[in-house]
Amino acid sequence: MSDLALVSPPLPTSPCLTGEALKLGIMASGSGSNFEAVAAAIAAGQLNAQIQVLIYNNPQAKAAERAQNHGVPAVLLNHRDFDSREALDAQVAETLQAYGVEWVIMAGWMRIVTPTLIDAFPGRMINIHPSLLPSFKGIRAIEQALASQVKLTGCTVHIVTLEMDSGPILMQAAVPILEGDDAERLHQRIQVQEHRILPAAIALAAQRYG
Ligand code: GAR
Repeated sequence: MSDLALVSPPLPTSPCLTGEALKLGIMASGSGSNFEAVAAAIAAGQLNAQIQVLIYNNPQAKAAERAQNHGVPAVLLNHRDFDSREALDAQVAETLQAYGVEWVIMAGWMRIVTPTLIDAFPGRMINIHPSLLPSFKGIRAIEQALASQVKLTGCTVHIVTLEMDSGPILMQAAVPILEGDDAERLHQRIQVQEHRILPAAIALAAQRYG
């Protein structure tokens, strides 16, 4: 059975490619495949945007290497160097502002964000989460879905609000859970859909709220 992608609303067929490029700041903690998907959509002319900066919190994050390959400045803000979540978020906000960022994309940022950051970009932060919200909020969303024995999960792109994984939904894609799936195999299929909907959802957010 192939992946079933149920997307609501439909992916924009003619994304707005005129006007000024959206100035994006991307936050990532790990592999950065979603960073890559956004960069690829920009390079392919499917998203009228520019990635101003990548912020990463984990010195080993492969996302930093990807940023370098795309000529995007990568700034390490290691959470271990900060006394509190708020102190980290203040530095994140300051860095994003220094790079002229208008829209902030949390693409696998595995830290809880605080009002210190959210209030600096009200309504202009976007998060991608590997479940069909409102199901399976928080960490280990894929393991939660497997444990619950649902037959369908997926991914969600939403606007960030103060309550974690709860802001207005921009786009979702569904992925069936197949016989014999483990977290890794299911995550791989979810990521195929993430890479498809994240760039489209950024365009949609800018069009709807920009
Ligand atoms: C993505 O699958 C994203 O949904 C998830 O982290 C992964 C990052 O992958 N985010 C969360 O779990 C946030 N709660 P990537 O580094 O390859 O883009």
